[in-house]
Amino acid sequence: MPERSKTRSERSRTGASGVADTLRHMADPILFRPIRLRDLEVRNRLWASPMCQYSVEQQDGVPREWYLQHIGALARGGAGLVVVEATAVTPEGRISPRDLGLWNDEQTAAFARLAGIAHAHGARIAVQLAHAGRKASTQPWLPGMPDGSVPIGAGGWPTVAPSEVGFGEFTAPRALGIDEIAGVVASFAAAADRAVAAGFDAVEVHAAHGYLLHEFLSPLSNLRGDGYGGDLERRARLLREVVRAIRIRHPELPILVRISATEWTAGGFDADEAQQVSAWLVEDGADLIDVSSGGNTPTAPIPVGPAYQTPLSARLRRELPADAVAIGAVGLITAAAQAETILVTGQADVIFVGRPLLADPHLPLRWAHELRASSAESLVPAPYHRARF
Ligand SMILES: Cc1cc2nc3c(=O)[nH]c(=O)nc-3n(C[C@H](O)[C@H](O)[C@H](O)COP(=O)(O)O)c2cc1C
Repeated sequence: MPERSKTRSERSRTGASGVADTLRHMADPILFRPIRLRDLEVRNRLWASPMCQYSVEQQDGVPREWYLQHIGALARGGAGLVVVEATAVTPEGRISPRDLGLWNDEQTAAFARLAGIAHAHGARIAVQLAHAGRKASTQPWLPGMPDGSVPIGAGGWPTVAPSEVGFGEFTAPRALGIDEIAGVVASFAAAADRAVAAGFDAVEVHAAHGYLLHEFLSPLSNLRGDGYGGDLERRARLLREVVRAIRIRHPELPILVRISATEWTAGGFDADEAQQVSAWLVEDGADLIDVSSGGNTPTAPIPVGPAYQTPLSARLRRELPADAVAIGAVGLITAAAQAETILVTGQADVIFVGRPLLADPHLPLRWAHELRASSAESLVPAPYHRARF
């Protein structure tokens, strides 16, 4: 077995049961071997990528029926970890009025139901903690909805960002005062507290796709001249403070960080900077870097194609210590053999799948069968056993 396919989780296991487990899984495809982040064991490496549903009709951030079904389907379908979509840490941090939020007790209680459902299906569950920054207060991306910012008089709100640099046609933001930045850190930390209180297994810090933490990382959107702008160290300071604040409060909580590892445009946050920031995040206590791209410029062309972001995850996997941090690949990974190849060739440790799981939440069951995973049968929910492949 090549060294690369022996994962940090397997290396870190000790004792007889660990050895037995390792032997049992050696014949398995890597995609369906468990992985460990700190003390959290996840049943496989095929994870549900966070995907906004814009379905909070009451506009209060509380997940109700749709979310129970949506998360339930993903967990029942066999994903190892289900990452609940971008969930705002403050009301102003919502992408749209119909986003999820995690800043009050009613939301926390409703999130606890999501955790219960995921766990009942044997899945682990994380929530992506987010602040949309200058891309907040926009229309839900749903069929029939208009584009652009929601006007203030129609349920929208003023947006904030590192600098007064607008995004495309969206309403221009106000620059956050330096005294307000500590409040952003505190909001992320408080939302992480709520996720833990709700029984979530992990959190993902959303620092990608042109939202607030990414806006601070990027020299295109961060023109500040104070301690939070300028060189890379200063641009990365807010993200690092967020990760450290969560780590200090929750020493054992697995922390994932989603980054846009390039903006696909000259002068933007790029792969070299992403590598340095990822190395810092490992020092700060991040357990997994989830490698996405783009989202901070409305015009940069993205070279979309099969597994188009995987070269970015491969670079981070090569450059960062495998025993210190796991790497996730995402983006147009649509077939079992393709996913397995990415893992076998050491380009990532886990695969996040988005749209294919919306099309078929049971896709992990099919991929487990196709790859002849030993867990293929046990992943099938008992009442569905007569329909197994
Ligand atoms: C409907 C939808 C909603 C999304 N919402 C989020 C989100 O909340 N947070 C995030 O980081 N990415 C979000 N994404 C991006 C996905 O997580 C994923 O990275 C992207 O779709 C590429 O993976 P795929 O080709 O497997 O779909 C969303 C994508 C879709 C299709």
